[in-house]
Amino acid sequence: MKTMILYASTYGFTRDCAQKLKQNLNGETILIDINKDPIPALDNFDTVLIGGSIYIGQIQKKIKKYCLSHLDELKNKKLGFFISCGSAETVDTYFKNSFPEILLEKALSIQNFGGEMRPDQMNFFHKFISNMVDKSADKQAAPPMKPLPENIIQMSNVMNNLS
Ligand SMILES: Cc1cc2nc3c(=O)[nH]c(=O)nc-3n(C[C@H](O)[C@H](O)[C@H](O)COP(=O)(O)O)c2cc1C
Repeated sequence: MKTMILYASTYGFTRDCAQKLKQNLNGETILIDINKDPIPALDNFDTVLIGGSIYIGQIQKKIKKYCLSHLDELKNKKLGFFISCGSAETVDTYFKNSFPEILLEKALSIQNFGGEMRPDQMNFFHKFISNMVDKSADKQAAPPMKPLPENIIQMSNVMNNLS
């Protein structure tokens, strides 16, 4: 099994998750940051895992664009999709908004890796919004945002059991 993990991460939480995913996978795996690394041709891989983080309901645009522009090639791969986000309740909607339906239907694993705020690294705008989100979550007694490392293990188990 040769795997590419392609991800976008604004403040590093999704990067950390993608690194853990790589550590847990059997076989050769390369990790590609869509914002920094050259993206290799897909014919080098039989398994492709793609993910990013949710900001104001949306995944990073580059991830969305990549899936749409490589739709036909991706359809023929073993696929997994992941997101990082704060709200467990709206995860299904986030997946539907982030990835083409036809690819989600084909995916062998779809996982929410949870989320983490890193305010020390945030720009002013993001810090402002995250304060508002915190206050509104307090009012609605929403469950707190937290990492879900068990879902990283779940995805790696599914992929490892294929080979
Ligand atoms: C400005 C801002 C907006 C966010 N918007 C959402 C959102 O709409 N829904 C959600 O579930 N999480 C939201 N989050 C939480 C992020 O998805 C979460 O912090 C994630 O772990 C970030 O991952 P990253 O560091 O890899 O970018 C938001 C976070 C920030 C800072």
